Amino acid sequence: MKKLLDWVDQRTGCRKIAHEALYENVPGGSRWRYVWGSALTFGFVVQIITGVALWLVYSPGSHTAWESVFYLQNNISGGWIVRGLHHYTAQAMTILLVLHLMQVVIDGAYKAPREVNFWFGLFLLFLVLALSLTGYLLPWDQKGFWATKVATNIAGIVPIAGPALQKMLIGGTDFGNATLTRFFALHAGILPGSVILLLVGHIYLFRRHGLTAKTPLRRRDAPFWPDQVLKDAVACLAVLAAVLVLTYRGHGAELGPPADPTNNYSAARPEWYFLFLYQFLKYFPGGTEAIGAIWIPSAILIVIFLMPFLGKWKLGHRFNVGFLFCLLAGASLLTWRAIDEDRGKPEVAASLREARASADRIKVLADSPQGIPPSGALLMLSHDALTQGPRLFARHCASCHRYGDGDALGNTPNSPETASDLKGFGTRAWLSGFIDPVRIDSVHYFGGTAWKNGRMAKYVKNKVSAFNADQKASLTRVIAALSAEASVRSQQKLDADSAADIHTGQSDFSNTLTCGDCHNFHSHDESTTGPDLTGYASREWLISFISNPGQDKFFGKHNDRMPSFAGKEILDAESIGMLVDWLRGDCYTGEEAKR
Ligand code: HEC
Ligand code: HEC
Repeated sequence: MKKLLDWVDQRTGCRKIAHEALYENVPGGSRWRYVWGSALTFGFVVQIITGVALWLVYSPGSHTAWESVFYLQNNISGGWIVRGLHHYTAQAMTILLVLHLMQVVIDGAYKAPREVNFWFGLFLLFLVLALSLTGYLLPWDQKGFWATKVATNIAGIVPIAGPALQKMLIGGTDFGNATLTRFFALHAGILPGSVILLLVGHIYLFRRHGLTAKTPLRRRDAPFWPDQVLKDAVACLAVLAAVLVLTYRGHGAELGPPADPTNNYSAARPEWYFLFLYQFLKYFPGGTEAIGAIWIPSAILIVIFLMPFLGKWKLGHRFNVGFLFCLLAGASLLTWRAIDEDRGKPEVAASLREARASADRIKVLADSPQGIPPSGALLMLSHDALTQGPRLFARHCASCHRYGDGDALGNTPNSPETASDLKGFGTRAWLSGFIDPVRIDSVHYFGGTAWKNGRMAKYVKNKVSAFNADQKASLTRVIAALSAEASVRSQQKLDADSAADIHTGQSDFSNTLTCGDCHNFHSHDESTTGPDLTGYASREWLISFISNPGQDKFFGKHNDRMPSFAGKEILDAESIGMLVDWLRGDCYTGEEAKR
């Protein structure tokens, strides 16, 4: 072993290098306050290793970026750990950077002759922040996409060069493939390369000037090895442990639904350590943005850059420390304000809910036999009834109808409920509520419509309320028969088990009860005046009804307000189909595969 080392040493001089590295003098002995630089370097190494691993899977492109991250997260064993480590180490590095800067300023380590190294450090700080910013976009999910848009808009505020700068960053006028390519080149090439160069210079200068000890010295000088090395190692391990805990707790980093340029995501926020800036900008409305985004930050940065000169005087040093603490306190306050303001915003909560629902939905669809199509996950969602149904309902139906009291997206619509609640439409439960003397004229059914005192409501309130036991039993069977027309998935088993009742119910409709006097039900009687109930609430019936509720077989010319969605070209055939499939519960749920 020794011989081998001798051989290597003769050719490389590695012993001397190791000796110099390890026997650097630490004035006053090892201390915990010197660990930040090593912990940061360690963090950066972790980022390079995990980053290269991510690179092996990542595919920059607006139809592939999100999909490749999704694949990494869900299909490659351990993929989520690597991504989680990368994500949380980035956050840890931001905290370490602040701690390092504080330690350097408090200990006066920026003073002559170390000014240049202080500036190197500041540049490193900005490079790391730029790495975070560029990395946030790469998964191409809703939050990264919209938050980065805000960030690049800030670049556009820069006087004179702004628009050109913004265009250069984005790689065009709008976000797309070129943006991803550009951000990826910055994130995986230019920025880390610059960090390495500056870091080498930073450490070289640090060694050249030696460590700035915290005075007064507590103990005798000691070499770097072993005490300080041990402390540094403990610090690095502590960082790693914290990052691992966070990774396990959150099962890696969150991946939102794929970026949708047409669906403004009002919950888009930058990473938490940029929140203070985001909040700060809110105080500079239209026309004055440049003051908040450019001028004030520039002034603060100039002060920080000049700190080594100010630090020459005792008072200047005190000012520096005080200034830094004020900045930190201000940033904390702004961050807290940003979080606090978001808590009260319903549109933020709604966006988050929608995003979570989409993200969960994609997992189910990705596991379906079709999987994610080559056209990407976004397109898959835009053809998915379970995703689009509630959105279409909230947009086109919730101004009159309800779905389980709300607008199907979890919000309470502004307009009052003036048509039926369509949750469970066509099921026995829904129909039992409809043909119920107490409930038919409630807002959940006909209470808000022109039919509140229509012939049906009158029939239910006057006749059905007086039904004897036999008639009630018939009604239950009629409801079963009518509901079987819908053949909704949730009642498949029930329908199959009560085939006999359903059969009897079909004849009860006109024979025992008088429904047939007013309704056609598998009959063609021209004299009936109520809606035709053949195929009631089935897919075809619903599509036809929503397309045009004013058809003779439905409400005819007396149709109350409900628009003719196909006739007026409000909705296309696919949208109506998705709406109907969702209303009827005919969506792929993942249960199919298990059966
Ligand atoms: C402007 C108000 C309004 C809008 C918007 C509206 N509806 Fe209606 N809808 C009604 C009214 C009123 C009725 C009662 C029957 C009638 O007169 O058309 C009704 C009836 C229905 C019915 C039959 C069940 C029942 O209660 O009679 C269904 C199903 C239905 N609507 C679905 C929808 C869907 C789906 C949308 C959105 C694409 C929608 N409606 C949009 C007002 C509206
Ligand atoms: C007196 C005539 C009459 C009788 C009897 C009658 N209906 Fe109706 N029904 C109507 C009319 C008319 C409407 C349309 C709303 C209105 O004008 O009140 C209607 C609406 C309905 C609807 C809602 C259709 C939709 O598109 O939302 C259902 C379901 C229904 N009736 C089922 C029945 C059943 C089941 C019976 C027997 C137990 C029955 N009706 C008996 C006249 C009648």
